[in-house]
Amino acid sequence: MEQLALLAPAPGSEAWCARFNELHVDLGTGDARYALRLARQRADLGVVGVDTCLDHVRGHARRWPANLALVQCDAAALPDALDGRVNRISVNFPYGRLLTGLLDGDEALRARLGAVLAMGGGIEVRINASALAGTGHSLATAEEALSNVCRCLGCDSVRCRRLDAAELRRFPSTWAKRIGFGREAVAIEVVGGCRVDGAPGALPP
Ligand SMILES: C[S@@+](CC[C@H](N)C(=O)[O-])C[C@H]1O[C@@H](n2cnc3c(N)ncnc32)[C@H](O)[C@@H]1O
Repeated sequence: MEQLALLAPAPGSEAWCARFNELHVDLGTGDARYALRLARQRADLGVVGVDTCLDHVRGHARRWPANLALVQCDAAALPDALDGRVNRISVNFPYGRLLTGLLDGDEALRARLGAVLAMGGGIEVRINASALAGTGHSLATAEEALSNVCRCLGCDSVRCRRLDAAELRRFPSTWAKRIGFGREAVAIEVVGGCRVDGAPGALPP
């Protein structure tokens, strides 16, 4: 799929990636609030926010931290320069193709995520209950589907838990807060830790 636009600083360049000790990709970044927070917390972390639509991002690129890059493209078409370099992937409250791609084990998406993930890297996915309407999934089957994605990506440790209203309200993304204050304030969180040279991947705290 075509990469539609590349906003400054150029995340497609190997030089940009090489400036950082670690890379984090936030898929379906929306207004990029979560990605921006991550970038502000750690200057040595390169953060790439990815979305098919970046119209909800506020502020001008000149005011973003130098370690934040926003890329407008499909999650299944991540730039090649990220290959083998990404230490962490987050997917917070996806909908549309990104949601169904994860739940249905879309091969193209899975292959691309597998290609960008570095040895020892991991993935964290959060899905709200209301997003599952019409997908044919319950919270339990969605947890199973996401656990399978983690295993297919080489994760040797997978942790599932539920997020309640209070946790959703505290979570630093716009959709989490919206869901947390809504009527069906529950979500699943699936976190996969990946293998490094045969050693079990560590799960984050
Ligand atoms: C509900 S919003 C969540 C935004 C943000 N993660 C948050 O927590 O506030 C879901 C986002 O997923 C994006 N999205 C849907 N399908 C996608 C795909 N195939 N590739 C990249 N982004 C996608 C949408 O454009 C939308 O911005």
